[in-house]
Amino acid sequence: MSGSLRLDRLLANMGYGSRKEVQGLVRAGAVTLDGAALSVTDAKIAIQPDLAQRMRVQGRPLDPPPGMALMLHKPLGVTCSHKEAGPLVYDLLPSRWRIREPGISTVGRLDKETSGLLLLTDDGALLHRIISPRHHVPKRYRATLARPLTGEEGATFASGTLMLEGDAKPLASAVLEPISPTEAFLTVTEGRYHMVRRMFAALGNHVEALHRDRIGALDLPEDLAPGEHRLMTPADVAAVFGADQ
Ligand code: URA
Repeated sequence: MSGSLRLDRLLANMGYGSRKEVQGLVRAGAVTLDGAALSVTDAKIAIQPDLAQRMRVQGRPLDPPPGMALMLHKPLGVTCSHKEAGPLVYDLLPSRWRIREPGISTVGRLDKETSGLLLLTDDGALLHRIISPRHHVPKRYRATLARPLTGEEGATFASGTLMLEGDAKPLASAVLEPISPTEAFLTVTEGRYHMVRRMFAALGNHVEALHRDRIGALDLPEDLAPGEHRLMTPADVAAVFGADQ
C-alpha cells in the first residue's frame, strides 16, 4: 500500500461500505487493531501499511490494500467485462471488491470461451506495464484444433509477416510448439482481439478449445481450481516480467 489514508476512508475505498457505514462498524467495535476495538476517534487516524496488517474487520484480516494484483483461474463461460450480461469474472471475487477505489480490472482479456490464467489489478501502472507491447510479455496458450497441424504453422507464425483480416499491421513473431497432431502451445507477445483463434483460422484451421497457462514466467498454479483466485506475491509479479529481463 502506498502512503497512508484515514481509517474510515481506507475501509470505504476497500468496499466495506460508505464512510458513514464504516464509522458504524467502528462504533460497533467490529474494527480491531491487535485484538483491541478501535474507537470513532481512531477512525480519523491515518493508517500506515504495517498497521493495516494488524487490523481485523469482523474478526477477519483486512482485504488487500490498494496496489493489489490477483491471479484468477478463469473458467469457461465467464466474461472479462464490468458491464456485459451473464456471468462476469468479477462475480468470482468478493462482492465488496466491486466498489473498491481504485477499481480492479482485468489485465487484458480472455474470451468467454477461453480458460486459464487471468491477472487482475487495481494498479494502473502495473496493468499498462504488462499489456504494453513495449514490454513483450509472452503469453502461452494451449490450443486444441479441429484439424491436424500441417507442419507449416510454426514457420508462418514465426515469420512476423502474417496479416490477420482487418488488421493494419502484421503480427509479431509467435512461437508454436506442437503437442500432438491437433494440439499445440502458441506463445504470443501481442494482445489482439480473438488473436489465437484468428491466427489458426488464417491458416484454414479452427480452435476448438483454448487455455492460457503462462504469462511471462508465471505459470497458472496447479492447485488453483477454475473459478479460484489468489493474491499475487511480489515474486509472482516479478515472474510476469521474468522472461523479459
Ligand atoms: N486469443 C484468443 O483468440 N482468445 C483469447 O481469449 C486469447 C487469445
